Amino acid sequence: MKDAAPRAIRLSEYQNPAFLVQDVSLTFRLDPHATRVFSRISFRRNPEGPGGPLRLDGEGLRLIRAAIDGTEVQPKILPAGLEIDAPDAFTWEAEVQIDPKANTALEGLYMSNGMYCTQCEAEGFRKITYYPDRPDVMAPFEVRIESELPVLLSNGDPVERGDGYAVWRDPWKKPAYLFALVAGDLVAHSNGFTTMEGREVALNIWVRPGDEDRCAYAMDSLKRSMRWDEDAYGRAYDLDVFNIVAVDDFNMGAMENKGLNIFNARYVLASPETATDADYARIEAIVAHEYFHNWTGNRITCRDWFQLCLKEGLTVFRDQTFSGDERSHAVKRIEDVQMLRARQFREDAGPLAHPVRPTSYIEINNFYTATVYEKGAEIIGMLRRLIGEDAYREGCDLYFDRHDGQACTIEDWLKVFEDATGRDLAQFARWYAQAGTPRVTAETRIEGGTLILDLAQSLPATPGQPEKAPQVIPLAIGAIARDGTEVLPTAVVELTETAQTFRFEVGTDDAVASINRGFSAPVILDQTLSAADRALLLAHDTDPFNKWEAGRALARTALVDMIVQSGAPDRHFVDALGPVISDNAQDPAFRALALALPSDDDLAQALTDSNATPDPDAIDAARTRMQTAVATAHEGALDAVYDAMKVSGPYNPDATDAGRRALRNAALSLLTHVDGGDRARAQFAAADNMTDCLAALSALIRTGQAETELQAFHDRWQNDRLVMDKWFALQIAGAPGETGLAVAQRLVEHPAFDWKNPNRFRSVIGALGMNHASFHARSGGGYALVADWLIRLDPLNPQTTARMTTLFETWHRYDVDRQDQAKAALRRIQSTEGLSRDTSEMVSRILG
Ligand code: ARG
Ligand code: ZN
Repeated sequence: MKDAAPRAIRLSEYQNPAFLVQDVSLTFRLDPHATRVFSRISFRRNPEGPGGPLRLDGEGLRLIRAAIDGTEVQPKILPAGLEIDAPDAFTWEAEVQIDPKANTALEGLYMSNGMYCTQCEAEGFRKITYYPDRPDVMAPFEVRIESELPVLLSNGDPVERGDGYAVWRDPWKKPAYLFALVAGDLVAHSNGFTTMEGREVALNIWVRPGDEDRCAYAMDSLKRSMRWDEDAYGRAYDLDVFNIVAVDDFNMGAMENKGLNIFNARYVLASPETATDADYARIEAIVAHEYFHNWTGNRITCRDWFQLCLKEGLTVFRDQTFSGDERSHAVKRIEDVQMLRARQFREDAGPLAHPVRPTSYIEINNFYTATVYEKGAEIIGMLRRLIGEDAYREGCDLYFDRHDGQACTIEDWLKVFEDATGRDLAQFARWYAQAGTPRVTAETRIEGGTLILDLAQSLPATPGQPEKAPQVIPLAIGAIARDGTEVLPTAVVELTETAQTFRFEVGTDDAVASINRGFSAPVILDQTLSAADRALLLAHDTDPFNKWEAGRALARTALVDMIVQSGAPDRHFVDALGPVISDNAQDPAFRALALALPSDDDLAQALTDSNATPDPDAIDAARTRMQTAVATAHEGALDAVYDAMKVSGPYNPDATDAGRRALRNAALSLLTHVDGGDRARAQFAAADNMTDCLAALSALIRTGQAETELQAFHDRWQNDRLVMDKWFALQIAGAPGETGLAVAQRLVEHPAFDWKNPNRFRSVIGALGMNHASFHARSGGGYALVADWLIRLDPLNPQTTARMTTLFETWHRYDVDRQDQAKAALRRIQSTEGLSRDTSEMVSRILG
């Protein structure tokens, strides 16, 4: 068991490092069970530090030898490191032994399918050697790798390659969390890029032999990202080599190690037959995200882990902007908001709510959250909207000039914009400090051609934060007259008080206000609109986000009414979808999004918001009835669109073709409710790409009649790990009603359920969590199954286990029986002997 009562780390207790590092030299003698790591580190006392002895972090290390300035020393070994008195400037040498093969936590140096790889963010480097493992200690690294494996990689540029060894040097100062090493039998997909500064950069994507023909899209995404960062932010790449490695066993998406990004293989490998359009889009976004970290994260890093959003929020914002530029801003914004609501609003509404900059944590890995990442990105978007694009770029230029090579705070970030614009951002900074999703109520009326907007804001209490102060909320506003013309083009108002009134000339007395256009602020908007007003916005709003949002609100209201009053599907909503289906003047990708109904989890939250207790079966049944009603009413039009959107020619993952497939498959999904699955079966048989194949399969799964197709899919893809992840996930997550539970119970016995692989674990246990009616099955069997497997995974892989406890974060929404079942499952996890610090922190927060 680890420390009995793990201590909380607090932002308020931050202290400068006692020692700074000037240079690091590491030698790795690789061996599966007995890797030796030799370190030589030059330290000097930090004049701004607290004084005292040298303390180094270290975990699970066997210290073989240590020396200071060449003299062997015997440091005091502590539970999480070591301590020794040291002079003001000296060279530290140590030799430690570690066991990569036994490292199932996938943090530090570990092995995946015969290859050595590392994951050091946030605190994995201390599992490799003794070091001040904190982001504000930055140094250049030289790394020598000794191994007979053919490919030996580390950060920076290659210095030397000989028989059984390789030497790399990274000239850029970096914190230890950006260290990386890879050794294995790998092949490269290679290309090159010339930066705007004229530097020739060799680009390599390293994969296992056989996967090299699935790297082209990641490579293309990388080159486009490199160009985009030059154009949009003036930032060029700064080494001669950029390496990406695909790894099968990885706890997260990817990692931005300097010059050596390490990726979960699923976010690198793609071919038309094995990856969907959505996979392609995610690969593009994640490749861009990790590449963009080279400036926002690596050249300028975080002072401490409380500042994580400094690099993550900003880098998410950058990758979102990039994807919008490369594809469609309207569609990207809708997708991003859907994700924000599904994950971040959900988090903010429950027991795990925390500020974008938290003030304390027990295990930092538990704070790589939707709030830090996605809400962190929303804050940057609001900042840009408030100060304007030019001032935003000026502030960013100042940030890079002023802070290159430093470890910074949110205060440093905001200060550059204050300096660039002269604007006081003190109130704006509350977005970083206060948890919870603001609620904005909007009451509108028109008097004598003037639109009067009464706005009020409130922020609910969240754990540890009973009282809140008003925030700066930028709201983009427009108005549409009853005849469909826009009478107020987008204007931005700044709501800074608890309540404020704004007036706009609109020149008519019959218009509908379109508020929070483009989702300019991440808030919940309460605006009383009739179904007719919403239908007007759905038909005529010039702002694509609010056009979609109007349809979404109509759908949500209609479904909530059906669930609460067991009523029939609302005709207004069903009718309003007619033009969405048939209006070929509109972007197919947009129409596909507008045709999709809110998810079961969205509806559960909507019911909770209206003080109702969500009944998972009723939600599932209402969605199905609504889909059937839409399909019945529009069968002819859907059929026409299904034919018209067929894409001919070779598969192309670009936004145009992907949009056509999305609309066609949205039509297919609806039509399957009325055609007995004929079209889906035919499409499945004919599909030459994974997008169409999976869309057909998932439509069939929902009918409960997919046995033949699932078997065929299995037989074709059983040797492909990434495709088999889809096979597991789809039949569990997509099963109708509660049936996903029985499917999951069966599939945990499947010989291919390799539960130690995080992707596979998520595609089974995570997929059950994604099936709302099955996870929340009245029997409590969903909760119990997930708890069983979390208990089993925890001793091996605490990080992935802890992350997946969030499936339970909404337990308080449901009826008392379900609450009791969920709490019993959580308590069972909590009382497990030797439970990890990661999981125990999460479970106790969730239980509250
Ligand atoms: N910095 C990585 C990224 O966002 C993610 C690292 C996640 N680390 C963790 N311990 N959860 O690209
Ligand atoms: Zn990141």
